[in-house]
Amino acid sequence: MRGIAVLGSTGSIGCSTLDVIRRHPDRFRVVALTGGTNRARLEAQASEWRPALSVLAADPDSDRRLIEVATRPDVDVVVNAMVGFAGLEATLAALAAGKRVALANKESLVVAGELVERARVAGGGELVPIDSEHSAVWQCLVGHGGRASRLILTASGGPFRQWSADRVANATVAEALNHPTWRMGNKITVDSASLANKAMEVIEGHFLFGVPYQAIEVVVHPQSIVHAFVEFPDGSVLAQLGFPSMELPILYSLSYPERWTDPGVRRFDPVAASALTFEPVRVDVFRAFSAGVAAGVAGGTAPAVFNAANEVAVARFLEGRLPFGRIAATIETVLERHRPGPQESLAVVQAADRWGRAEAEAVIG
Ligand SMILES: NC(=O)c1ccc[n+]([C@@H]2O[C@H](COP(=O)([O-])OP(=O)(O)OC[C@H]3O[C@@H](n4cnc5c(N)ncnc54)[C@H](OP(=O)(O)O)[C@@H]3O)[C@@H](O)[C@H]2O)c1
Repeated sequence: MRGIAVLGSTGSIGCSTLDVIRRHPDRFRVVALTGGTNRARLEAQASEWRPALSVLAADPDSDRRLIEVATRPDVDVVVNAMVGFAGLEATLAALAAGKRVALANKESLVVAGELVERARVAGGGELVPIDSEHSAVWQCLVGHGGRASRLILTASGGPFRQWSADRVANATVAEALNHPTWRMGNKITVDSASLANKAMEVIEGHFLFGVPYQAIEVVVHPQSIVHAFVEFPDGSVLAQLGFPSMELPILYSLSYPERWTDPGVRRFDPVAASALTFEPVRVDVFRAFSAGVAAGVAGGTAPAVFNAANEVAVARFLEGRLPFGRIAATIETVLERHRPGPQESLAVVQAADRWGRAEAEAVIG
């Protein structure tokens, strides 16, 4: 029995993780659960799972208690399914404490990829991706010497894949949340519509697999069946396929290096999947994608500022206070004003995050 802590258990990935664990009761003991503001759901989960600790971020002293959850001696696996910059400290603490971190919180790697890697090495922790594209790369690399010469991540293209630039600029909240293939939390769904999410995944892939930015490509694949391609030095290309559901990547992050039978994972049927198509990203329309990748290439504090500007712009968009088209414009303006410095410490990254948020608020007005 492995002790498991689910951070962000009240969210989309958190609930799917508990669904997976429910089907493997002999393998896991739920030690801790955490939520943000959804007290009713956290209480319902606590009454089902009887964890030693459940923490709501909205309650007093929650920062300290979240770190306690991530580092408890009886926790072997920390599933970080929190959304946003808020997930970073728990990732660092869990890795420094030598835990396996099953990472959905991509923002951890985006804002502080260098610090995350340092914490992993120093603490002897293990980082296993949950993001479907990175789980796909991970699965392709296992048993192949772990050396990729090129990664090709797929993107569904989101709800605005074929829309004109003018129509995208004025898209409504309901339209942005109407994702064609994935059911996810609101923030990542908007990020998928703007393709900021895919820029984050490029940065995430760079840090997870040590592949240079120029060897990471993105291709739009509307069916969301192929999650990534990995090219090896000899030119061979492997891909991982599956219907668009997070249950398989979550299962693999828990079972790795084993593979477990799970009746909840839908089986692949090539005839049902039918045509698989691929097309380029329309970088002229989805400018948040290019801005995010450029921030990754600039490195240091730039990706933290990209993320901060994006988090603020997405929150204002969801409140109905910012047109969709100004999400990318806000990110671009804030990044233009930023002078990146080295990613020296958590304090430096936190300062960059605060600066990026304040600048974004000022730009939005
Ligand atoms: N959903 C997917 O299919 C998917 C796929 C790949 C990667 N991811 C990544 O996984 C992460 C979670 O995504 P999601 O779709 O599950 O999001 P979500 O449904 O919005 O859930 C987010 C979770 O984080 C909690 N939370 C929010 N703000 C917090 C804070 N300041 N402090 C502590 N907890 C906080 C939420 O609590 P309350 O709800 O109680 O407020 C909730 O439990 C994101 O980084 C996302 O990019 C998601």
